[in-house]
Amino acid sequence: MVEKPAIAVIGAGLMGAGIALVFAAAGHPVALFDALEGARATALPRIRDNLRAVGLDPIAADAITLHAQLTKAVANADFVIEAAPEDLALKQALFVEIEDATRPTAILASNTSVIPITAIMARLRNKSRALGTHWWNPPYLVPLVEVIRTVDTSDAAIDATLKLLVSVGKTAVEVKKDVPGFIGNRLQHALWREAVALVADGICDAKTVDDVVKASFGARLAVLGPLENADLVGTDLTRSIHNYVLPALDRSTAASPYLDRLVETGRLGFKSGEGFRSWSPEQQSALRERVTNHLRASFGAPVSARE
Ligand SMILES: NC(=O)c1ccc[n+]([C@@H]2O[C@H](COP(=O)([O-])OP(=O)(O)OC[C@H]3O[C@@H](n4cnc5c(N)ncnc54)[C@H](O)[C@@H]3O)[C@@H](O)[C@H]2O)c1
Repeated sequence: MVEKPAIAVIGAGLMGAGIALVFAAAGHPVALFDALEGARATALPRIRDNLRAVGLDPIAADAITLHAQLTKAVANADFVIEAAPEDLALKQALFVEIEDATRPTAILASNTSVIPITAIMARLRNKSRALGTHWWNPPYLVPLVEVIRTVDTSDAAIDATLKLLVSVGKTAVEVKKDVPGFIGNRLQHALWREAVALVADGICDAKTVDDVVKASFGARLAVLGPLENADLVGTDLTRSIHNYVLPALDRSTAASPYLDRLVETGRLGFKSGEGFRSWSPEQQSALRERVTNHLRASFGAPVSARE
């Protein structure tokens, strides 16, 4: 790949605009496509606001060209990242159009949260250059990007993608099999399943679950991964704990009936003011600010070509 590969981002929503910000700040030319006029109109102001919020010069957004036509956006790209809505048929159709309009050497990536990459890329003629890049929100503050390999993805496409992501300051890891939830969401939702079960079974309330995590292993997690921790305490102790506790853990293979009840009674979380817990507008802003400040303090600003 050339020194600053040209990037095309498909979808200028929460994730697409954030991904465009990361590459533009690092000095890459970025073509940003969205099918909706409203999203195109607000994209650059949102990106400039977010650059300011992380302490970078909003002029970095000048590296981004907005497009109303997909084929024009991807024509000169070395690397295409799709961040359109989470809809398999839509993503499949987009990649068919992208494959026809882009250079044969361009790498094609989807930022899907949960849809198998193999299914999204099923209609491509050349699947060797297709893979997943699973970014986390907000993409310009959370370092991780999971790079997902399918059985068709070439080593060269994986290596070039990992290298590109590292060059813009991301922590890029390879997911060697295209499994649902990749790595991060499998771990996260294994914990959430048990958290819901503790509340549903009356062992504690939702605030207590959150307090327990934040005041104990959650506080260590950013510097001590679970398997480092298992080695630290000893694999022998870990085995004996597992033999006692695993039979008692929740093993449901569908969402909890407790969660069904919340949804069916309109307790949807922030958007309705109540979910597992109640949320006033002030509490919602305070929580969002707390998370952003924590991520900024932990990881700093994105890589900037201007410094
Ligand atoms: N939100 C998250 O935390 C998160 C995290 C990781 C991955 N993802 C995944 O990233 C993708 C985008 O999610 P998001 O949260 O940015 O959604 P979003 O709704 O904020 O953005 C989607 C954008 O796609 C645009 N769009 C609609 N139809 C389109 C089309 N035909 N072509 C191009 N663009 C089109 C919309 O106008 C919108 O701007 C989804 O696959 C989602 O699952 C989301």
